[in-house]
Amino acid sequence: MPLTQQQIDAYWMPFTANRDFKKQPRLVVGAEGHYYTSADGRRIYDCFSGLWCSGLGHCHPKIVAAVQRQVATLDYCMAFQMGGENSFQLAGQLAEFAPPGFNHCFFTGSGSESADTALKIALAYHRAQGNAQRNRLVGRERGYHGVNFGGISVGGIGPNRKVFNANLINNVDHLPHTLDLQHNAFSKGQPAWGAHLADELERLAALHDGGNIAAVIVEPVAGSTGILPPPVAYLQRLREICDRHGILLIFDEVITAFGRVGENFAAQRFGVMPDIITTAKGLTNGVIPMGAVLVRDGIYDAFMRGPEQLIELFHGYTYSGHPVAAAAGLATLDIYRQEGVMEQARALEAPFEQALHSLADCPHVIDIRNIGLMGAIELAPREGAPGARGLEAHKRCFWEEDIAVRNGMDILQFSPFLNAGAEDLARALEAVGRVLKTIH
Ligand SMILES: Cc1ncc(COP(=O)(O)O)c(C=O)c1O
Repeated sequence: MPLTQQQIDAYWMPFTANRDFKKQPRLVVGAEGHYYTSADGRRIYDCFSGLWCSGLGHCHPKIVAAVQRQVATLDYCMAFQMGGENSFQLAGQLAEFAPPGFNHCFFTGSGSESADTALKIALAYHRAQGNAQRNRLVGRERGYHGVNFGGISVGGIGPNRKVFNANLINNVDHLPHTLDLQHNAFSKGQPAWGAHLADELERLAALHDGGNIAAVIVEPVAGSTGILPPPVAYLQRLREICDRHGILLIFDEVITAFGRVGENFAAQRFGVMPDIITTAKGLTNGVIPMGAVLVRDGIYDAFMRGPEQLIELFHGYTYSGHPVAAAAGLATLDIYRQEGVMEQARALEAPFEQALHSLADCPHVIDIRNIGLMGAIELAPREGAPGARGLEAHKRCFWEEDIAVRNGMDILQFSPFLNAGAEDLARALEAVGRVLKTIH
């Protein structure tokens, strides 16, 4: 039955131009594998793995079966002072999946909750160590760490902060972002230019005294802002400066964990170990909301002191370790390990890069950049109407080419399935090329 106008009006959609969308809603009623089914019965090839989160494809039968079993066995369990058994199993398996030394995780319900949890853990850790003066946080321009107050404070996407400016949390600085089209346009993989931008952290350490800074949080590859791969040696440099000043390094891997850059975690791809890693999205293949914050051993240990009847960290969510989400997570981790997913993702990287960069000469294109299975095509904004060209491209892809492509303002973004076919991907990008040639 088609939706009524009342139903369409009733839903205040997230990060969506509601009035524009509701004139001609892009509605989906089903999904299987690499395709959505639209409400008008078309198969839509998904170029974005859901919203970065469904890298194994939609409705993976093993995850569906695990969730169905779990919801009929233990639907929910009090998360404080009790625990569902399978959330411990998932924590144990995540520790094995993670880089060595990350043997503890805190479960959340989303990436935003993971980001705020990580910031709180960092601040509380220093306090537990007797360093309560370490209360400054450092984020990065164009960074995205979700939409809660901590996340938008360390985040650096202007429109997400503007309205809330007066109420952002205190004591936050931002590093510069690393995109400069004069120096690194049309980069393939990590740009050669830009490592020196990490030295801004040294400047902040000099300004505030490094001993007052609790943590630096960055996405190893900035995703939501339009895919900014880290310049060669940039992350290493950040790590070195953090070490020099005793600052914790947090990698927000909500997008980059679980194969998006061809390894379990981006920390492994770039050979730089942070102190805290945030995750969500690919943890359950997007099937049930869940996030996890992984901490290295010394951080967890610092909390495990004092009277044993007392709560060590006054923080948690009703849905931390939710049993149905944990079942989805366990099934998802099994698939990552057993179905050669990381190998497939790595093999797809070169054909994806080639297909993406083949659009370099299309009208309006001012930059193309990629790493792993993350790619962006940046379009010049239309005079006086920023975002209009990108939105039109997104809509035309959906209605005319049967593909789902994300636009963040005028940047078209791609997040192919980890197990996508190279030919499907090439066909989808050819379709994007056709759209670009016909929009003004
Ligand atoms: C790096 C990063 N952190 C946090 C988030 C927020 O995740 P969520 O939308 O699940 O709250 C996102 C979402 O895209 C993200 O990319």
